Amino acid sequence: MSAEKEKIRIAVLVSGGGTNLQALIDAEKSGILKNGEITVVIASRPGVHALKRAEQAGIRAEVCDRKSLQERFEPELLRILTEERTGLIVLAGFLSVLSADFTARYRNRIINIHPSLIPSFCGKGYYGLKVHEAALARGVKVTGATVHFVNEIPDGGEIILQKAVAVQAGDTPEILQKRVMEEAEWKLLPAAAEMICERMRKQALS
Ligand code: GRF
Repeated sequence: MSAEKEKIRIAVLVSGGGTNLQALIDAEKSGILKNGEITVVIASRPGVHALKRAEQAGIRAEVCDRKSLQERFEPELLRILTEERTGLIVLAGFLSVLSADFTARYRNRIINIHPSLIPSFCGKGYYGLKVHEAALARGVKVTGATVHFVNEIPDGGEIILQKAVAVQAGDTPEILQKRVMEEAEWKLLPAAAEMICERMRKQALS
């Protein structure tokens, strides 16, 4: 395939169930994601369901076990990303914080989905259900999700897209998490990935 026709090669980094990964896979199938292609899924721990989703979709699935690799974790990640000629890294429920060296190397080429409206309920310690627990404890009436670029500050990079979701009476952290995923995350992440891939492809041609 000629260089100008080549799609942006996407690596999706995961640590859990992979519903956001699934949303990306489905978006590629349906043509919502058309300027990028998922070529590899890398999990930071073995046995997570996201790996099954990758295999079922026929995508290369790799494990970079943070616990056992320790200081060899990022070099190993880099090895796979280089081998894959990755253009865009998508963090989809990836629970490891990447070093400043790593994020600098992929400046403006790593995006993350966070389940709140940044700058609320984000940064160190805000992940998974903890985000929704904090939102409910504060009594906010609106929460949502954010896709942002990843830099050396946790959840501190430039905001790409946000979507608001209403908090409802009787919400538990679990109920709110599900609504934020369904109404915001699963739409926002593929939309942002497509937006960035389209931009990167245009830049490559200009
Ligand atoms: C999502 O809520 C995402 O925003 C957060 O971690 C969760 C991952 O869920 N960063 P899944 O693995 O995509 O199902």
